Order: sequence, then structure tokens, then C-alpha cells
Amino acid sequence: MTILAKWISAPLDTGSAAVTFRRDVHTEKKITKAELCASALGVYAAFLNGARVGKGVLAPGWTSYNTRVQYQTYDLTDLLTGDDHLEIGVGPGWAVGFMGWGHVNHYYHDKVAAIAALTLTYADGTREVIATDGDWEVYTSHVTSSDIYHGETVDLTAPITSIGKAELADITVELIPQVGEWITEHERLAPIEVIRTPKGETVVDFGQNMTGYVEFRIKAPRGSRIVVHHAEVLDRDGNFYNENYRKARNENIFVCSGGDDVFKPTYSFQGFRYIRLEEYPFDTVDVEGIRAIAVHSELRRTGRFVCGNEKINQLYHNVIWGQKSNYLDIPTDCPQRDERLGWTGDTQVFCRTGAINYDVEKFFTKWLGDVAIEQSPEGAVAGIVPHCLKGENAYVSAAWGDVACIAPWQIYLAYGNKALLSEHFPMMKKWVDYLHSVGPEEFLWLGGNHYGDWLAMDGDPEKCYGATAYDLIASAFFAYSTSLLIKAGEVLGKDMSEYRALYTNVRKAFRAYFMENGMPKETFPFVFDEKQNSRQENRQRLGMTQTALVLILHFDLCEANERAALAAKLVEMIRENGMRMTTGFVGTPYLLHVLSDNGYTDVAYELLFQEKNPSWLYSVTHGATTIWEHWNGIREDGTFWDKTMNSFNHYAYGAVFDWIFGVACGITPTEHAPAYREVAIAPKPDKRLGFVDTSIDTRNGTVRMHWYYKENTVYYEIEIPEGVTAYLTLPSGYSADLTGGCYHFAE
Ligand code: BGC
Repeated sequence: MTILAKWISAPLDTGSAAVTFRRDVHTEKKITKAELCASALGVYAAFLNGARVGKGVLAPGWTSYNTRVQYQTYDLTDLLTGDDHLEIGVGPGWAVGFMGWGHVNHYYHDKVAAIAALTLTYADGTREVIATDGDWEVYTSHVTSSDIYHGETVDLTAPITSIGKAELADITVELIPQVGEWITEHERLAPIEVIRTPKGETVVDFGQNMTGYVEFRIKAPRGSRIVVHHAEVLDRDGNFYNENYRKARNENIFVCSGGDDVFKPTYSFQGFRYIRLEEYPFDTVDVEGIRAIAVHSELRRTGRFVCGNEKINQLYHNVIWGQKSNYLDIPTDCPQRDERLGWTGDTQVFCRTGAINYDVEKFFTKWLGDVAIEQSPEGAVAGIVPHCLKGENAYVSAAWGDVACIAPWQIYLAYGNKALLSEHFPMMKKWVDYLHSVGPEEFLWLGGNHYGDWLAMDGDPEKCYGATAYDLIASAFFAYSTSLLIKAGEVLGKDMSEYRALYTNVRKAFRAYFMENGMPKETFPFVFDEKQNSRQENRQRLGMTQTALVLILHFDLCEANERAALAAKLVEMIRENGMRMTTGFVGTPYLLHVLSDNGYTDVAYELLFQEKNPSWLYSVTHGATTIWEHWNGIREDGTFWDKTMNSFNHYAYGAVFDWIFGVACGITPTEHAPAYREVAIAPKPDKRLGFVDTSIDTRNGTVRMHWYYKENTVYYEIEIPEGVTAYLTLPSGYSADLTGGCYHFAE
């Protein structure tokens, strides 16, 4: 963006209203090119002669605004007439509106600001730049109130008045060209039902939990109002339920002009399946005029899956919609309550699956850039990126901060982008150095504030904290992150001997402190570390949990001769729990892998097909259309889990599809030739799935696996793209190296 452009704000406080910055553009000369660059602190929309330009919404997206903000570029060459006006509308968005559960606004700036430059190239070869400065006019807008959490009021009867000339704003943030994907509108869903609830409320059901907003096309008397609230679920009596949104009002109010109106928020979005119409101008709801529009980052779909089991197909549908809902410019925990934040733990848990379903390389290029920016000089990575909490801070927690190593490595495996891995190698190294420096023991991470095995079922089932000792989780991830750093360093040709020695020491220390006789110890002393101001006194501190066993096995913290007993113990605990897991965010993503890696593929499938709580299919059998935050967000008796932490659109547990693609279907990228240049094909079929037909569009072409049962024989159809080598292993033990082509096997 040209240095001529200045950041501008309104000359007075406009509160939560969106304002419009306006400039007339007159030219007599013939234009051969017109390019607009624009950005904002807040969320902006650019208009030329009253018409919105560009395909994006919710620009400029969310970055670490204290450091950098993206600008977008629009080609206006064919739109300018010579007598035009350019407007930049800006609402509070992420930068100025409310953020976090502490309910504080103005985290990045106290009022909205815009910056723009229109570069005109004329036929005579000359150029002119029309850039934001103190000459721009500021007007009120029809958006009289807007907030990401609270929703938007659009009043088409509100007069548009001048607020005066723009004021130059003292903003020094770096402007960068857009590095992430555009945020765009996608599916348009028609209502499937208009419900009169037992309470007598009018509720519209779109049949799908999603992120975006509802558009109304309506012609109603001037001044009449549509007042909309949003919800993900109805309660057991069939009434509208939105208490789990906590303080996020999610309220859109539209005031009709009297003409043909089209309403939708411009600077806000909601997470919902249902809307309640508190006010509506007519007795009958015109469903033709109502559409729910899905909004998310523009990602190319790469993974496809269908099988012979309808519930598993629904589960995959829920995973996909969970990803769409929470990949809105940054990876978020949920899209509806007063969070919608870049929780690092949720991100690392799901990113491997996310990179199968969609091409997320660019999406993560942007977000990982912010993780690196926000890493502390000591190497700490907080629970949330971009950071946006005042007073309250997200912990530097194990399994959350480890995103610094896990995400760059997984994105490298999926796309093979060495340059990106190299860019983030310093961040990975700093995180491992941080782990090395923190806590009272050099090779363990003891003490500190962690989220533990978040939402696991083996702690107090009414609380969010699992039973597995935090120190065990933290030290296990210390080893794991170090191992990933070593792998990354080896790919990049670096001398990793220092970190190999560190890994050996961490593993040794882990085994000495947390294990005896090849098993995890039952309990551990609580270590209070003053420097870390630990807050875990009252948490449980168990070593013999499903999650502890999973981590020890998956992170290879055991010796080869200890594996069988550890895996058998895990299976015993699963069986004792009625063939159900107790794992939370930390243990669940690896659980099925650990079982199938250690000879218990049958138990992995039992868990996959389990329908009793906790299980993946519990929510499916209870009508879920996205993945729930809690295994039992809706309990057996139809009551809800505590409203303070009960999202119905949290993708983390959707990570199970990494196992379904990788093990059930059997397609896994290899570490030595990433981006599926060399691929391991090792399907583990199960009759209850009937068949799977799956494909992944990789950087090296489409890999496809189709297996199906006929009687007791499994038939395989495998497609390998040209130039790719596949290492096939079938359940019988038959193995072969395959090159590009289509193959058939039966056994
Ligand atoms: C979020 C989680 C997040 C967690 C930290 C919650 O409020 O919604 O998904 O990871 O806090 O434990």
C-alpha cells in the first residue's frame, strides 16, 4: 500500500456504529487500470458508487493487529465511470469490538479506522493515487450498531448524516498484502421448518449448525422490524435455547425501509442452526425470503469420504461442517459464544485432519505467522493466538503451546513446503528451549498452569479438567515437541545433535519420574513452582489413565518390550469402562492410532462404533450436525451440560477422521517424502463399514482407496497418481510397491 495513504478515523466517538469514509473520484482522462488497496482496524467493506466491491467479506481478517494487519487489493478498472464515489464502511469487528469472555472492547484500538489507496493509471501513461487523508468525509451508516459477539443492527430508516472530515489516526501497525485466504460466502441454506415452540415462539430451523448469517429479503412497512436471535439447539421440550452463548447476544435487528430490502450483517457473523424471530412484520414467515449463508475461509476441498455406515457418514458430515464453521480466517474453538478465539490446543488437535479435508496451506501460513509473532522472547506460546484478552490471560499450557511444533510439522507433511518449515523452525526451537528452561527440573515440565486433558471424562464429570496429571502431560509433550523439532531440523539439514541429546534426557527423565516397571505410576506429588505461579493444587494427579497410556505409547516413551503390557492395560481400562474412552482433548486424537498400532484395531473399531456416552456416535445419534465440545453436551435425559462451556460446534474431536483416512482407509503421507510423494497404503477394513470410498487430492495428484466387502472377501481398488510411489500393505501381510496406476486386490 502506498505511503501516501494515512490511517483515518471519525472525528468523534461513534460507539459500536459502523461509519462510512467517503471520497468522490472525478476524472476526465481515460483509465486503463484502477486498483484499490484497503484495510481497517475493525471490519470493513468497500463500496464503489454504492455497490460492494470484491468477493470477500469480513475483511481485513484477523491477524495480530498489534503488529500486522492485511490489506486487500481490488481491481476496479471496469467499474469506474469517471464520476464516482468510493466508500469504506467500517464496523468494530475483532479489533475494536468485544473480545473474550472478560467482556472488554477496544483491545487493539479505541475506535475504528480505515486506510485505502486507489491507484489510477491513465491511457497517457500517467498515474494518480487517491489515498485516505484528512480530506475524506465521514458519514453515519445504516449499521447503527455492530459487534462480532453481539450482532448487528441495520436501520434503513436511519438518516445518513455527515460527521465531518476524517481525523488522522495514530496507528503504526505494519500493513501487509493479504497472506491468508479470502473469507467468502458459501452455501445458501433454505429453512427446513418454521416451528411454533411450546413457549409460543417462532423459530426457523435451517437443519444445519453452521457459521455465517441469515439473509432476509423482504418488503414490509417502513419502520417495521425483524429481530433475530440465534441458537444451535432446542431444549428437550422443543424450546429455543441459547444460554450456552454466555454473554454473546448474537442479536441482529433489521429495520425496514418500506421498499424491497435485503438484510444481512456486514461486520458480524453468528454460529447457529436455529433463529428465533422475536419481531417480524407479518403473521406468516416468508421462508422464500430467508436464507442462512455459510461464511468461512475460501478453502479448496481435498478430502472425500463415504462408507456403508450412515452414522459414520453423518459423523464425517459433522466434521466437515465443524471445520467450515471454525476455519473462518483463523482456526477457532467455536463460532458462537463469547470466544471464537484462536485456541492453540484445539488447532493442533485438528490440523492434521483439517489438512486432509481442505487445502489449508495458505490458511496456516497466515495463522502460524501470528503464532511466531506472539511467541514471547523466552519462547512461550499462549493458549490463544491472536492474543486479545485484557486482564485475563490464556495459560501457556502443554498441548496448547505445542502447536508451535505440531502445526508446522503437520502442514509440512501434508504439503511438503520446506520454505514454510524453515520459516517456522526458529519458533519450534524457541518453544523447545522454553520447555527446557521452565520449571524446577531441567528435563521435565513440572508445575505451571495447564488445561490438562481438557474435558476428559475421568475427572469430575461436571468439570472441565481431566484426571491425568498435568506434569505427566506436560513432560510427555516436551519429549514429543523435541522429537518433532529434531525431524524438522533433519529435513532442513541442520545439526540436531544438541536436541537429540536433549530428547534422550527428557525421555529418560520422564521414565524415571512418571513410570515404574514399564507402567505409569498411579499418582505424583504436586509440584508448585513459584516462578510459574502454578494453579493446579486441587486438580487430580493420576498417572494410570487412558490418556497417560496413550501418550506414553504414541510418543514412544516406553521401551519396545513394554508396549504389549501398556496396550493391554489401556484395553483393559477401556473394557472396564464399558468399551468406552475417558479421554479428553489430549488423549482422544491419538487413542485409535495407539490401539491399531499395537494390535487392537478391533477395539479401535469398537470405540468408533460405540454409541453410548462418551463416543463419537453419541452426538450423531442425538441429532448433531457438527461436532460437539462435550461428548455429552446433551445428556441422556435431554438436559444440557453446564451452559458455561457447552458449544455444539467445536471441531476438536473431529480429529478421529485422521484415523479413518489414515488407518481404516489406509492412506498416510510418509515423513521422508511428504505431500504424499511417497504414501503408505495400509487399509484396515471392518465389515461394519461395509465399504469405504475415499480420495485425497494431494500436491502430487489424487490418491484413492475404495474397499468393499462381498461375503467375507474384501476387494480393493486403489488409485495412485503418476509419479507417486505407494508402499502397500494389506491385512494379510501382502505387500508391494506401487507406482502410478489403478490396482485391484482381493483377500
Ligand atoms: C475453549 C476450548 C479451549 C479451552 C482451553 C475453552 O473455553 O472453548 O476449546 O481449548 O477453553 O482449555
